[in-house]
Amino acid sequence: MNLLKRLLYKKRKFYDDDFDWNNYTADSYHRRLKQDVESQYQARSGAGDLSFDPASGRLDTKGAVLHPNQVLILETIGRLQPASVHEVGCGGGDHISTAQALFPEIMCFGGDRGASQLDLAVSRHPHMRDRFGLQDITMPYSRDWPKTDLVYSQAVLMHIHTAVSHFVALSNMFSVANNQVLLVENVQCHDFVADLHGLWSGGHLPWPDMHLYLAEGSTGARGVLASRVELSMTRLESDAQLREGQKPSARRLKRAAEDSARAIFGFARI
Ligand SMILES: C[S@@+](CC[C@H](N)C(=O)[O-])C[C@H]1O[C@@H](n2cnc3c(N)ncnc32)[C@H](O)[C@@H]1O
Repeated sequence: MNLLKRLLYKKRKFYDDDFDWNNYTADSYHRRLKQDVESQYQARSGAGDLSFDPASGRLDTKGAVLHPNQVLILETIGRLQPASVHEVGCGGGDHISTAQALFPEIMCFGGDRGASQLDLAVSRHPHMRDRFGLQDITMPYSRDWPKTDLVYSQAVLMHIHTAVSHFVALSNMFSVANNQVLLVENVQCHDFVADLHGLWSGGHLPWPDMHLYLAEGSTGARGVLASRVELSMTRLESDAQLREGQKPSARRLKRAAEDSARAIFGFARI
């Protein structure tokens, strides 16, 4: 790396994460939302656009094509029927706002560390203004954070690789979740199952019990569902099970292993 590149690299505050979150909206997110997401999928849905069938646990999109990850999020909410939901790293707010439209009786909130991301979220969903808040999930736990029955993230932790930040984020998500945590992330970017077991056995999670399940949406997306209570779902035993059927990315898996290796769990006697 030449000197100029090195200086620019060092100037970046969060240089081990995939993005500089302070410039993220203008640099990447807005363009990707328009070009990659909205060109193929209905990203925003209002009241009456979608319905959920509790008997089958499936979403009826009434002909609209939703991103499989959004389907997974909405179906998980419908199946669990929490009283409240919080999205960590809500970005432009489309998922949580769609959840609010589909399930008006559930209190939905979204937090993000990017002020410009939240500006975008408010511009796309002005009626949700009071439900959005600036929140860095890698900060020490704050009692001001909303506590909800279900907490989820979509495409957030997979981009966090600075020091042990993704462990801190995971632990915080459990601290603000009364019952369940859902991770809709690229499952090759972290060893989510192994990392959660490490956090659990090291005493970093506040729940008395943790059960891991494979969350599956009706259009193919998969995620990790951690629950305080047992559920009748497919148990998730390993990262290999979570990654079944995927073409392995050697680069991502190596980075995930390096991230995991930085952890020191609990208080190990010497
Ligand atoms: C790839 S975007 C995904 C946004 C949204 N979940 C979606 O699916 O459209 C990642 C988001 O995570 C947010 N983020 C990154 N680090 C965060 C942190 N430590 N705490 C809260 N949000 C964070 C970013 O600002 C950004 O909005």
